[in-house]
Amino acid sequence: MIKKFIFGKPFETDATVLQIAKENQFVQNEAVEELKAQNCEVLCSESGFSFECKLKEETIVYGLGQAMGNINKRGRTYTSYCSDDPSHTENKESLYGAHNFIIIYNPSDINSSKGFFFDYPTRITFDIGYTKIDKLKVSCKTSDIAIFEILPELNSSIKNDNPLKNIVTQFRNLIGQSYIAPRWALGFMQSRWGYRTEQDIRTVYESYKKAGIPLDSICLDIDYMKDYKDFTVDSERFSDLKKFSDELKADGVRLVPIIDAGVKIEDGYDVYEEGVKNDFFCKKQDGKNFVAGVWPGRTHFPDFMKQESREWFGQKYKILTDMGIEGFWNDMNEPAIFYSDEGLEEVIKRIKAVDTSNLDINSFFSFKDIVLAVSNSQDDYNRFYHEVTQDGKTYKVKHNDIHNLYGYNMTRSAGEELAKIRDGKRTLLFSRSSYIGMHRYGGIWTGDNCSWWEHLALEIRMMPSLNMCGFLYTGADIGGFGCNVSRDLLLRWLAFGVFTPLMRNHSAIGTRDQECYQFENSEDFKSVVNVRYRLLPYLYSEYIKASVKNEMYFKPLSFEYPTDSRCLEINDQLILGNEIMIAPVYTQNAKGRMVYLPQDMILVRFMPDGKIIQEKISAGDHYIEVPLNEVVMFVKLGCVVPVTKPALNSDKLDYDNLTLVGDIASEASYSLYFDDGYTTKIDLDRNIKILGK
Ligand code: GLC
Repeated sequence: MIKKFIFGKPFETDATVLQIAKENQFVQNEAVEELKAQNCEVLCSESGFSFECKLKEETIVYGLGQAMGNINKRGRTYTSYCSDDPSHTENKESLYGAHNFIIIYNPSDINSSKGFFFDYPTRITFDIGYTKIDKLKVSCKTSDIAIFEILPELNSSIKNDNPLKNIVTQFRNLIGQSYIAPRWALGFMQSRWGYRTEQDIRTVYESYKKAGIPLDSICLDIDYMKDYKDFTVDSERFSDLKKFSDELKADGVRLVPIIDAGVKIEDGYDVYEEGVKNDFFCKKQDGKNFVAGVWPGRTHFPDFMKQESREWFGQKYKILTDMGIEGFWNDMNEPAIFYSDEGLEEVIKRIKAVDTSNLDINSFFSFKDIVLAVSNSQDDYNRFYHEVTQDGKTYKVKHNDIHNLYGYNMTRSAGEELAKIRDGKRTLLFSRSSYIGMHRYGGIWTGDNCSWWEHLALEIRMMPSLNMCGFLYTGADIGGFGCNVSRDLLLRWLAFGVFTPLMRNHSAIGTRDQECYQFENSEDFKSVVNVRYRLLPYLYSEYIKASVKNEMYFKPLSFEYPTDSRCLEINDQLILGNEIMIAPVYTQNAKGRMVYLPQDMILVRFMPDGKIIQEKISAGDHYIEVPLNEVVMFVKLGCVVPVTKPALNSDKLDYDNLTLVGDIASEASYSLYFDDGYTTKIDLDRNIKILGK
């Protein structure tokens, strides 16, 4: 059951798709009263909004998608404010996405669980037992907000339904079905900021092939463009992108170009000129187009809040699909601003004003911060406006008042138009910035992480939280974007990446080369990546089922075993689909790790020589050895999982001759979803093959 509480005049974010029945909608005072009856206190005033409720000692809080912390979010403060901040250190409150969904769970009274979605388009803070250990406080600047409350309604026709899973499915019904990527997008991707020419890309393609390591796609970062101009190709460095793309595609490898939010200001550049002529860009209060410095220098931001701008920008992707491109990544769409004209002027003025004769503790540190403060500044986010049409009225909204919707609407622009351009065919699309609602149009990668073991652990914890919020096609920059990766970190990260729908090795310019073939004994990398391909029919099937049925692909153990007290605290093991548990190794020099099994399971070990070793393990704690070149997973008793033979890419996989691993001695069978991997039509009932007894 879903209730909607309306305070003030909430901005229509388009996060949700379900209409809530009138009798379940509560407005202002009625909403305050209704929430009070559930021990939640709401304060609406001129100075802001707050929502408070009590947390019992045992209460667990799940959710918030892309955020720091553990799977249980308690004990910290989080701020949803899409931020271009590559340094995801322990203390950070905001990352690239804004995912305001939480579940409050009391293990001793599981039916009292509740979900809350705070539909609010800009900065909102979640203090989850941080300021006061027994209080959850959600607060934001204005009192115009819609809150959805989701109460469990157990469905006896769903196997093992429980309040946690049920709340997620109801929430996902509310926000609409998740984006579905083409099957090749579940293949391994190689990327790096620094590939400049066709020859650089060719080297990557050939080196993977030579090393026998499977590869489905190579990303083109900003250097494929002419002077970082969206929808252009530098013809000196890529003389014929269509021919090149066709050649690679014929061998099953696809190119995936990046698109940035800022459009370069340059006379004669058609995208810029059309945007100016048709008023497609964000404007300042004085009506002039806002100027933001990004990769190409001075740019304008398309006003993605305006339908005409969305249609126009989205149709531009056709320039690249006409060259055979079938996938894109949308970047810098928080939007990231290096500087604005006004900001730059101000900084220079402030630097000039510094008295250099004697900088003391205060003046020195404020001097140091002057230049840094020019990027992604609040002043800039307050300087430009969007044109919005709601309830039949068109009006201007300050960017900062709807900041979290920008990346969402950039990807919506691409998603809506690519659906027309490539009618009936799926397109790969993933974004850096996001808000709930964007999950219907594309996936996300988790942004500029680092080659830190801690970031591998963070990504493991983040996956189920993202799934709760509808983001299924997701994954991290494997190996880490910033810093230099070590061989063992890359292998361990790949061994986890084998299971994430988006499996991409990506790194920053200036860091150590990070392609798998750059390291000693590349056959170890081959063994690990091969496992992705052996499992691809299964992973694809579970991914599609989770999307269509509004379920989670990755779950915390507690979602499957809600009354097992050990499972409530596990942050480094996940349930994948309905059959598997994974327990990735994420510490350096570890030869294995302790794994907790909530029930008897079959340990399935993928060996470097292609053999699969299986062993029944009883419930409880076990030390499991995992050499760097092996991948291990656990299959629940009573379940089987199909595997195929590895191939150089997903186009070349044998989808017909599948063997089963797991509890093969039992009566178990597996319902495999299969299709051509690209048509948009998904028929879960018809496209099922039963494998096994
Ligand atoms: C941003 C992206 C990163 C990309 C770089 C250059 O930092 O997050 O993935 O490589 O820009 O385009």
